[in-house]
Amino acid sequence: MAVTRAADGALAGARVLITGASSGIGAATATAMAARGARLVLTGRDREALEAVAARTGGRVLLADLRTDVDDLAERAGQIDVLVGNAGEGWCGPLAEMPAGAVERLVAVNLTAPIRLTRALLPGMTARGRGHLVYVASIAGAVGVREEAVYSATKAGLLAFAESLRYEVSGVHVTVVLPGVVDTPFFERRGRPYGRSRPAPLPAERVARAIVGAVERGRAETFVPGWLRLPARLAGAAPGPFRVLARRFGRP
Ligand SMILES: NC(=O)c1ccc[n+]([C@@H]2O[C@H](COP(=O)([O-])OP(=O)(O)OC[C@H]3O[C@@H](n4cnc5c(N)ncnc54)[C@H](OP(=O)(O)O)[C@@H]3O)[C@@H](O)[C@H]2O)c1
Repeated sequence: MAVTRAADGALAGARVLITGASSGIGAATATAMAARGARLVLTGRDREALEAVAARTGGRVLLADLRTDVDDLAERAGQIDVLVGNAGEGWCGPLAEMPAGAVERLVAVNLTAPIRLTRALLPGMTARGRGHLVYVASIAGAVGVREEAVYSATKAGLLAFAESLRYEVSGVHVTVVLPGVVDTPFFERRGRPYGRSRPAPLPAERVARAIVGAVERGRAETFVPGWLRLPARLAGAAPGPFRVLARRFGRP
């Protein structure tokens, strides 16, 4: 697929590292950012899928397992202007049935890895007085979801990390992305398909557009779709009534 470059903007010429670039939201974000003239570093474990994304975006592939290879990945990536911390895994079911190792895996990929990548890349951004940190969290991190306690906790942790870091950095933007349900292999991979008819899953390209818009406009947060801001705000402002509504309408 040919890539058309936008004339200008925050992403033109920027070096962007996208984790989880082999699939879903990460792959769609790679396509959208390449169209803006970004120079991409694409990472994940699936070489074939990453090379397919690289072929259409001109990106450089770096294989890495985020459970173990974060420091090495940061070193190999070199100078990075924009980090899109997108890679993530889910698990759905009663907590007591969660298999051994799954808790550690979710925490490692969804929370520890973006924190450690940030720790490795931030000094370079600060020294250059320029940078953007984007974290793909989830609405689950803002409101909590039945039978996704560990997943929701990792995303809530990511949101708190980003919110706190924002006070600490200067010259570096921080964006959190809170998608709802997105049509990607995520559900299949977590072992339980998305079983509801509403809300209907959004295409990954919609999240990718929101990420690009947030980077170009320096947005602190973006909900996809935008109406998800309402339950997030309600849960914060009126947690009691929110829980009543969530119990009534939030069943899978
Ligand atoms: N889909 C949704 O409804 C939804 C909603 C809200 C938030 N999100 C979040 O959006 C992000 C992207 O998810 P998606 O929907 O695009 O799912 P996806 O299609 O399953 O993509 C997940 C990506 O994470 C990477 N990944 C997983 N484990 C990894 C590991 N150990 N090391 C390196 N990379 C790893 C995968 O790469 P490899 O397979 O190449 O390793 C893949 O590229 C996740 O953080 C997810 O929590 C998704």
